[in-house]
Amino acid sequence: MINTIRQKIKSAMSFQLGYNNKLLPSAIISKKSISTTTVACSNNNNKSSSHIKTTFEKNVMATYGRFDICLDHGNGTYVHDVKGKKYLDIGGGIAVNALGHAHPEIVKTIHEQASKLIHCSNLYYTESQGNLANRLIEYLGENGKVFFSNSGAEANEGLYKLARAYGQESKRYKIITATNSFHGRTLGGIAATGQDKIKKGFYPMIDGFDHVPFNDLNAMENTIDDQTSAILIEGIQGEGGVTPATPEYLLGLRKLCDEKNILLMFDSVQCGHFRSGRFQSYQRILEDIENTFQPDAISMAKSLGGGIPIGAFWVKEKHSSLLSAGMHGTTYGGNPLSCSIALTILDV
Ligand SMILES: Cc1ncc(COP(=O)(O)O)c(C=O)c1O
Repeated sequence: MINTIRQKIKSAMSFQLGYNNKLLPSAIISKKSISTTTVACSNNNNKSSSHIKTTFEKNVMATYGRFDICLDHGNGTYVHDVKGKKYLDIGGGIAVNALGHAHPEIVKTIHEQASKLIHCSNLYYTESQGNLANRLIEYLGENGKVFFSNSGAEANEGLYKLARAYGQESKRYKIITATNSFHGRTLGGIAATGQDKIKKGFYPMIDGFDHVPFNDLNAMENTIDDQTSAILIEGIQGEGGVTPATPEYLLGLRKLCDEKNILLMFDSVQCGHFRSGRFQSYQRILEDIENTFQPDAISMAKSLGGGIPIGAFWVKEKHSSLLSAGMHGTTYGGNPLSCSIALTILDV
């Protein structure tokens, strides 16, 4: 049963990425995976690409290892370099370009919304932000509230603050995450992430994160102490190797959190928004099992915006007032452009 679910999820995610079931060992998208398709056609040493590279390397921080390819535009599942060479884009912007490149509906929405209102502050009401929140809540099937941010790491930061606010009175502040998890590159994100290589060079870590092996309920139970406020896991570990949680693990976590009065939070930045075939990966994992499973909070980003920066977190209704006016905010979060694009993607 578990193996069947695992297989279904792996094929759904690989299908969406165009891998045709050729699963990669350690990451949904890795540099290695892209290079196998692009290496044969990466010989674009023309003048303008060398100019682009020189300008880039002189001015842009060298925090990424890059391929020797200067991309210019894309169409559907293909991208073209500055010389017009065509590549099959199996990277998808690292789990972002849900509708491929230059999808006509997205282009249309950008045109229409940009000519009306790209951004206004969160001191005002805008239609698309409310509608997008409503749509996400409908997919989740449980009342709650949504906060919009600009990235996955920022959405997770909201979850860390939620956990802190939840535990404030009882002096609980710790969050347990899984080894091999990935939660982003902010200081909070690298402390939450269960991989040493992400933390290297940035010690000391922010206090308050414990790590336990993924899919190990006993380890989780043994690590909870009287300062634990929340558990944060990915329904399917992405950077950690496309590893789905087992149904028993998810149901066990829910029971544990209810018993210990702890928040169960999901990082769905990479595995959410229908990338598993269902809106949320836990909905997919548990679809053959009768249950009423629901986490307390969920972070989202990446394919939610199909390429436009957007992040979000949803909180169950009963916890949604933990973050009240003045406690959290971000300038661009939920702007009309990003929200209308996300709505278009969900429509398509
Ligand atoms: C599960 C998960 N959480 C968080 C992040 C961070 O998202 P972002 O790069 O948008 O900050 C990522 C990025 O790969 C991710 O895979």
